[in-house]
Amino acid sequence: MKAARIHAYGASSEIRIEDAPLPMLNDDDVLIRVVATSVNPVDWKIRKGYLKAFIPYEMPLIMGWDVSGVVEKTGPAVTRFKPGDAVYSRPDIARNGAYAEYVAVRETEIAFKPATISHVEAASLPLVSITAWEALFTTANLTPGQRVLIHAGAGGVGSIAVQLARAKGAHVTTTASAPKSALVRSLGADEVIDYHAQDFANVAKDMDVVFDTIGGEVQEKSWGVLKPGGMLVSITDRPSEDRAKAMGKRAGYVFIGPNAAILKDLGQMVDLGQIRPLIAAEFGLNDTAKAQDFSETGRATGKIVIYAGHP
Ligand SMILES: NC(=O)c1ccc[n+]([C@@H]2O[C@H](COP(=O)([O-])OP(=O)(O)OC[C@H]3O[C@@H](n4cnc5c(N)ncnc54)[C@H](OP(=O)(O)O)[C@@H]3O)[C@@H](O)[C@H]2O)c1
Repeated sequence: MKAARIHAYGASSEIRIEDAPLPMLNDDDVLIRVVATSVNPVDWKIRKGYLKAFIPYEMPLIMGWDVSGVVEKTGPAVTRFKPGDAVYSRPDIARNGAYAEYVAVRETEIAFKPATISHVEAASLPLVSITAWEALFTTANLTPGQRVLIHAGAGGVGSIAVQLARAKGAHVTTTASAPKSALVRSLGADEVIDYHAQDFANVAKDMDVVFDTIGGEVQEKSWGVLKPGGMLVSITDRPSEDRAKAMGKRAGYVFIGPNAAILKDLGQMVDLGQIRPLIAAEFGLNDTAKAQDFSETGRATGKIVIYAGHP
């Protein structure tokens, strides 16, 4: 099969479009014919070797841990899926990913694709949606009427987080640069702070929850906008729980894994029109390096999707 692989950690020029063997199937695996995959910052962080201390990858490696496609074949222990089913997944990051024509994914990590959107749109959702859901709902336990500040509402994670928080009935404030203000309002933000023109720390206040998708100084300043007992939940730098306790606030950190249950619930919200995918750009598999370079700029509005060539 055709795949985008790296044989060594390094720059995006390490990415080679080449023939690779079809994935071997374990008994509980589903072979998915990839229609589309998407780029997440973790892809190029892995490519650069930033995660090699945590996950010992064997080379060559296929990146891309989002997929929407069609079931080609199932292992003997698989019971929920059959060839021809349209599915989507955020597969296990320790295995080869979906920058390829086929990917093998455990049955437990797969859900049926939402029926009302295309594979390209569906491929943009799994990783960022599981992340936003686990941060806002599982960890911060966001409830209707609460006030939440979501950093980078126009980003891959932020654009879904804004919609999920709005659907939950929370009051949503988000940061975005001025040209993206109307867009994030259309996703459900009640208030938008242009982070170039204003320091959010001087504008936002009394938040029940802050969702930190940036880290560093942004996280540091975020403590000040939380009300007593409020929670700072991050997906970048792990916030100090001791520090939170000393301020009478709470800290949370999320590093996601596969979660088919969330994808099932999310799919229902998509089909009800409560969540819409936001696509920044679409590339072909041959242009995977360009797609990663774009992600690395940190300026994408929504998700960068890679079409793998099977309609
Ligand atoms: N722990 C986990 O499980 C997990 C899961 C997913 C993602 N992550 C991490 O979360 C981070 C965000 O991921 P992502 O996919 O959402 O990234 P992304 O899509 O690349 O984010 C790009 C967006 O961020 C905005 N932005 C950049 N700096 C900003 C700032 N200071 N304030 C407000 N907006 C800003 C940009 O808007 P402008 O162009 O207007 O600046 C752009 O729209 C990454 O570091 C990623 O690795 C972690």
